[in-house]
This record gives sequence, C-alpha cells and structure tokens, in this order.
Amino acid sequence: MMLIARDLTRRLRGRALVAGVTLDIRPAEMLGLIGPNGSGKSTLLRMLAGLVRPDGGQVALDGRPLRTMPARHIALVAQSAETSDRITVRDAVALGRTPWLDALRPWSPADEAHVTQALARVDLAHLAGRDWSTLSGGERQRAHIARALAQAPRILLLDEPTNHLDIRHQLAILDLVGGLGLTTVIALHDLNQAMRCDRLAVMQAGRLVALGPPDRILTADLLARVFQVRASTLTDPQDGSRVMRFHPVV
Ligand SMILES: Nc1ncnc2c1ncn2[C@@H]1O[C@H](COP(=O)(O)OP(=O)(O)OP(=O)(O)O)[C@@H](O)[C@H]1O
Ligand SMILES: [Mg+2]
Repeated sequence: MMLIARDLTRRLRGRALVAGVTLDIRPAEMLGLIGPNGSGKSTLLRMLAGLVRPDGGQVALDGRPLRTMPARHIALVAQSAETSDRITVRDAVALGRTPWLDALRPWSPADEAHVTQALARVDLAHLAGRDWSTLSGGERQRAHIARALAQAPRILLLDEPTNHLDIRHQLAILDLVGGLGLTTVIALHDLNQAMRCDRLAVMQAGRLVALGPPDRILTADLLARVFQVRASTLTDPQDGSRVMRFHPVV
C-alpha cells in the first residue's frame, strides 16, 4: 500500500510544528524518521496515522484520502501510550483487533490467533495474564507493539519503539519490524540503528530537510547542521559495516 503525504502542515497558535512536508512512503520499505527533539517527528506520524487533522495538505492511502479508508490499515505505536484501565496484557493486545470487528464479524478464533502470535513475537507470551499496570516500562512498550501487530495493519508507524527496551529487545524489535515486510515508518534517535532503514527522512524545525538512503543522508555536513554533532566512523571487523561514534560540535 502506498502512503503519500502532500504538503502537510500543522500549526499551533500561529507556530508551524510541521511545515509543508511532502513524502512518498514506498510499499514494503522501512523509512526511518530522524531529527532532534521537537523537530516534528511525532506530529508528522500522528498526521500520517490519521489521528491529527493537518491544517494544510493531505495524506492519501492508495490514492484516496486517508479519512475515507478503514482504520484497520494503519497502526501507530505512539511514543508514550498509556492504558490506565485495569485489564490484562492479553486484553490490551486484543484491542488491536477492534477495527476488524463488528456485528457481522464478532470475535473469532482467527482474532485469538492474531493476539497469541503478536504476544509471542514481542516475547511477552509469559506475561499474557498479568495486569497491564504491573508491567515494566519496556514490557509495556513491547505490549504496545504487540497491539499494533495484532491489528495486522498494512502500514506500521512506530514512534521511538525501542526507547525503553533493553539492548537485546531493541535488536529483536528492529529485526522483527524489518522482517515483517510491511510499509513502515519508524522514528528513531539512535543513528546507528537508523542505518538499518531503507531510507531516512530527516526533520528539522518542522521541515523535511533530507530524504534518501542512509549512507547518502548521514553526511558530516548534515550531522553538523541538523544534530550539532560530528561523527567518527569505525568499521565493524566482524561484517565490515559502518559504525558511528558521535562528538558534540562546540
Ligand atoms: N499540544 C502541544 N502544545 C504545544 N506544543 C506542542 C504540542 N504538541 C507538540 N508541540 C510542539 O511541537 C513541536 C514538535 O513536537 P513533536 O512531538 O512532533 O517533536 P518530535 O520530533 O517528536 O520530538 P521528540 O524527539 O522529542 O519526540 C515541539 O516543539 C513541541 O513542543
Ligand atoms: Mg516525538
């Protein structure tokens, strides 16, 4: 499925949080969204998900306005999603099936299977019966990802999905997401992790300032201009891949 943003703008009290962003997200690609704090990544993702109406421009899914399309096609894992209700982890993940259900299509074993598989994929099967509120920060984040996976969306939007995870689960989630073959937009702060994306979109002060393959985007010039850092590049002797170490520009 093709997700296209045309000239997206979001204003708040006269200030543009996102300004004139045009972006084609290619089918099955993993697009990394990077940029400093406050550059508009989360605001852009919420507009792509249809949760926030843009003040200008539009989002189209397969050539049709997003609001005319069924909600089940796009799942967003928000940066700080909270679920205050006293429900089990399994029930929280089962909420991902909601957009598929209606009077003619009640809960079925197929829905149950989606939930079971999603829990297993994020390594939470053993906590399925736990009260949601008792989860640790990282477990909760994995449960949010499981809820999005249970939805079986065509497009997956992830807002810093690894920020609370231990290192093993960070790698596991990035591998999992990369292996799904879904059209994915993922906001990340770790630029070495961002190198694994097919393309990177760089936000700065609400604008999209660069878009392309990671190798071509993460230049010394861009790192200095957008992130105020310089990088020394090392080569991993195990597989020859490029690793960056960052230093502040003074
Ligand atoms: N409801 C709001 N009220 C006031 N300002 C807001 C609101 N929502 C977002 N902003 C501002 O909009 C700008 C963009 O915010 P956004 O959350 O999109 O940034 P971000 O790139 O996701 O940052 P981070 O890396 O910290 O998650 C920020 O300056 C933020 O303070
Ligand atoms: Mg954000």
